Amino acid sequence: MYYPDELVEEVRSRSDIVDVIGSYVKLQKKGSTYFGLCPFHNEKTPSFSVTPAKQMYYCFGCGAGGNVITFLMEYENYTFREALETLAERAGVELPKGEENAEARRQADLRARILEVNREAGRYFYYQLKGPGGKRAFEYLAGRGLSEETIKRFGLGYSNMYSDDLYRYLKKKGYPDELLKESGLVKIEERGAHDRFWNRVMFPIMDVNGKIIGFGGRVMGEGEPKYLNSPETRVFDKSRNLYGLNYARTARKPYLLLCEGYMDVISMHQAGFTNAVASLGTAFTPGHGNLLHRYTEQVVLTYDSDNAGVKAALRAIPILKEAGISAKVLSLKPYKDPDEFIKALGAEAFEERIRGAKNSFLFETDVLYSQYDMNDPEQKTGFHNALANRLLQFTERLERENYMEAAARQYQIDYDSLKSLVNAMGGRAGTLRPPVKERRSLEEKKGKPDGVKQSQRLLLTWLIEDERVYQTVKEILSPEDFTEELYRRTAKMVYEGLETGNLSPAGILNHFINDEDEYKEVAALFNTSLSELTKEEREKAFSETVKRVKRHSLEEKLRNVTDISLLQKLMKEQRALNELHISLN
Ligand code: CTP
Ligand code: MN
Repeated sequence: MYYPDELVEEVRSRSDIVDVIGSYVKLQKKGSTYFGLCPFHNEKTPSFSVTPAKQMYYCFGCGAGGNVITFLMEYENYTFREALETLAERAGVELPKGEENAEARRQADLRARILEVNREAGRYFYYQLKGPGGKRAFEYLAGRGLSEETIKRFGLGYSNMYSDDLYRYLKKKGYPDELLKESGLVKIEERGAHDRFWNRVMFPIMDVNGKIIGFGGRVMGEGEPKYLNSPETRVFDKSRNLYGLNYARTARKPYLLLCEGYMDVISMHQAGFTNAVASLGTAFTPGHGNLLHRYTEQVVLTYDSDNAGVKAALRAIPILKEAGISAKVLSLKPYKDPDEFIKALGAEAFEERIRGAKNSFLFETDVLYSQYDMNDPEQKTGFHNALANRLLQFTERLERENYMEAAARQYQIDYDSLKSLVNAMGGRAGTLRPPVKERRSLEEKKGKPDGVKQSQRLLLTWLIEDERVYQTVKEILSPEDFTEELYRRTAKMVYEGLETGNLSPAGILNHFINDEDEYKEVAALFNTSLSELTKEEREKAFSETVKRVKRHSLEEKLRNVTDISLLQKLMKEQRALNELHISLN
């Protein structure tokens, strides 16, 4: 069921953005705007702004922006509906209870109840660990070098020897069987109920907001399986969560460390590397990549040094790249994993390895290199060809040359020879290959002059920032003159708002909420600063901008016109435009 626009707008307008964001981010007032550290990327100085007048937020660092609804969608990972319902409840706005709505609410309720059960279980495991029955488990963790503080921070626990102790504990708290089954913590069979976890040290798995979504349990010592994890439930999706991210996202480092295991994350955090995360006993997925990209553009891979770890790294690198993250690979040799490395050589040596981490391309080619026997001329040539072929992925000339240089140095190949091999191959393959995946829009490919787009953008910003501008602009430009489709839709709403005297940027944004790219662009539009221009510069820029937009619009129309009288009319408008004097005042 769709909520009607008016209702969405009512919820939005009754949810003050400073109040709502202020409960997540520490904000400080500067003039008419509030500033804080951006929750969507790592930074040390605040570039995240919240403007009460516009009821919008915008980060000048990473470009995240939107209204109070999109904030909750991004921050809490809510769907549109969840964000709206949360805000409605907070603001005391009654939402209609349609059929489908009741179902959605039931689902949301169920998720909340599972989280509650998980929290209870986490607490229970923790107290078991601290109690007399948990002595062996505690000693196991202490024996692995974990301090009490670390154990507490990660909420580690112990599931005891009895096969249904947790079940009975939770039943006593009043949770029904059906719910406990959904949580994945117990199995209910004909013969009775059984806890999933039994005599293991427990690692609660938290989402970015610190809510327990599942557990991993490790046998103490040898045993199979070494780790047992919660099954996927309504709140636990392994391919979309990363262990440790709830802490790592606030670490304020320019990169994140990605590793394989729970213990690796915990060891690294304890040693001061609080920017470490791990995928949860599964391969790294594009879902993980996108999640990480919210917080960083650079990852240092610290996978195990065995063959499986190398393979996992080779798979993760392209996924990271696709998500817009550049990767480096850290060598842990001769140790198996970060946990063992740090235990053996300490934090400083680890820091040193981070500094020495290898560029992901050279890591890949190193693996390639190891597959050839360099004493055999044929194999050696094979390696050179494979290497040259890989170098072709860099279509940017300078970048390619940098990599050729690095590769030549690394594998002791004559640079000029390598270069001519690469060029010869490129020639055979039909000059250079296009970039693997083009992300550019159709519009850009058609080669539309970017300046016009810029001008349309600027003008919209102007209209929102300075309402006097509208009187002049509306005489010359109609929303149809904004040839960019997204801007035209925006312009229609901005004009309407200005015409009726109740322009609401945050309200306009509601119309773009279903498309993340769109609302981000519109949010940016509404938050561009114009203040750096002097009065004269503004006057001149304004006139030029209006003319440019109009001229482009006329050209577009002229291109498609078939009617002769319309043609004449357009040409006349074109001439008039050249004579036109446009002034802000
Ligand atoms: N894993 C899992 N199930 C298993 C084995 C491993 O889910 N049966 C996951 C766990 O998340 C584990 C990670 O894979 O943390 C890495 O496994 P592994 O390298 O075998 O374990 P370590 O992290 O080295 O664990 P430990 O140091 O406790 O031996
Ligand atoms: Mn280990």
